[in-house]
Amino acid sequence: MSEQAKKPIKITETILRDAHQSLIATRMTTEQMLPIVEKMDKVGYHSVECWGGATFDASLRFLKEDPWDRLRKFRDGFKHTKLQMLFRGQNILGYRPYADDVVEYFVQKSVANGIDIIRIFDCLNDLRNLQTAVNAANKEKAHAQVALSYTLGDAYTLEYWTKIAKQIEEMGASSICIKDMAGLLLPYKATELVTALKKAVKIPIQLHTHYTSGVASMTYLKAVEAGVDVIDTAMSPFALGTSQPATEVMVETFKDTPYDTGYDQKLLAEIADYFRPIRDEALDSGLLNPKNLGVNIKTLLYQVPGGMLSNLTSQLKEQGAEDKFYDVLEEVPRVRKDLGEPPLVTPSSQIVGTQAVFNVLMGERYKMVTKETKDVLSGKYGATVKPFNPEVQKKCIGDVKPITCRPADLIDNELDKLEAEMAQWKEQDEDVLTYALFPQVAIDFFKYRQAQETKVDPAVADSKNKAYPV
Ligand code: CO
Repeated sequence: MSEQAKKPIKITETILRDAHQSLIATRMTTEQMLPIVEKMDKVGYHSVECWGGATFDASLRFLKEDPWDRLRKFRDGFKHTKLQMLFRGQNILGYRPYADDVVEYFVQKSVANGIDIIRIFDCLNDLRNLQTAVNAANKEKAHAQVALSYTLGDAYTLEYWTKIAKQIEEMGASSICIKDMAGLLLPYKATELVTALKKAVKIPIQLHTHYTSGVASMTYLKAVEAGVDVIDTAMSPFALGTSQPATEVMVETFKDTPYDTGYDQKLLAEIADYFRPIRDEALDSGLLNPKNLGVNIKTLLYQVPGGMLSNLTSQLKEQGAEDKFYDVLEEVPRVRKDLGEPPLVTPSSQIVGTQAVFNVLMGERYKMVTKETKDVLSGKYGATVKPFNPEVQKKCIGDVKPITCRPADLIDNELDKLEAEMAQWKEQDEDVLTYALFPQVAIDFFKYRQAQETKVDPAVADSKNKAYPV
């Protein structure tokens, strides 16, 4: 061992973002998180992922919390640890492409409120959709990490990944993340991929995967041996299943090796003790479904992320068509191929999934087509790695000429318009960004906030504001 140079593996802790997003529908509250922040700050994590992804939407929609306020509280509590967020490129934290001015302002405010590392991805891996966010992060002196949305398919060769990694380095990113949202990266494939990427670029490589298919901790082991710099893990009470490998397990695995993290297991145990009752409570209430804790080998068969599987189940349940589950699962790869074989990650996962449901339920493929499917086929989400199926494209968008430029080039700056629309609700600069991402949910939240502040009945606040169109 002594001959081998020491290279401690770094860890991003995900329990405050991805872990609870993956296991309990993003329902952990700020109040549940804050008491343990001081201890987490002592671990020595590379970073704590705690914001972005679905946390923003869920805070507003279900928890009636201001996500910006949560971020500021994290910043107050984490004195030594870098705070990390997940950012959907030009879609920010929403589901449609935004104008550059909104993307830039969002990045600026995220950093101003405490974010250090911004992990930026695009659901099509179209790098043009990442450039504005990367430039904005660099301008704010934040760490811009670009994530490759990892997926399988003919087009996704080692040559493809190394080519795109080089382009990411050239575009000014500070590091690269292999973002394996469905848990598809197998251990020996990780050796190949990490080795190739380490050879191709100088910037650090981080690996993010999910335990869904049961291989994740082996994948980390092989990736670390191949030279990956950082891995994403979750404290054990919210690890495994559709979440990440457990922090304590990975720390112990690398103990007394050149990759030793040096983290204090006693401290980690105290942190786990804190989260365990929250897990138990979620199990008791049904929020944490034991099904999500097992190995789901179907993700390898159908290459569908865990979150997408549960979305499909609930969409079919609503339609009273749960018996069509396997038909839909088999339709998903066909729709994906028609749409240029994109990775399946928000929002492409929802677009492909919903279209697959329609195709099966209508008994005819593309008889009913969502607006989002049409937008993908019109190039409005960007370029796909493979061409669209021309027949499907013709059936869905007719003679409309698809765009080939960067989609945001066709979107006029929209901040001023958004500011004007929500002026009556504004209590802080960040409110316009909240409104930009989720207009209706934001208004509901602003009404709730106002009612809380003035201690009036929300119904009364509602009628008072009727004169203003929103
Ligand atoms: Co994830």
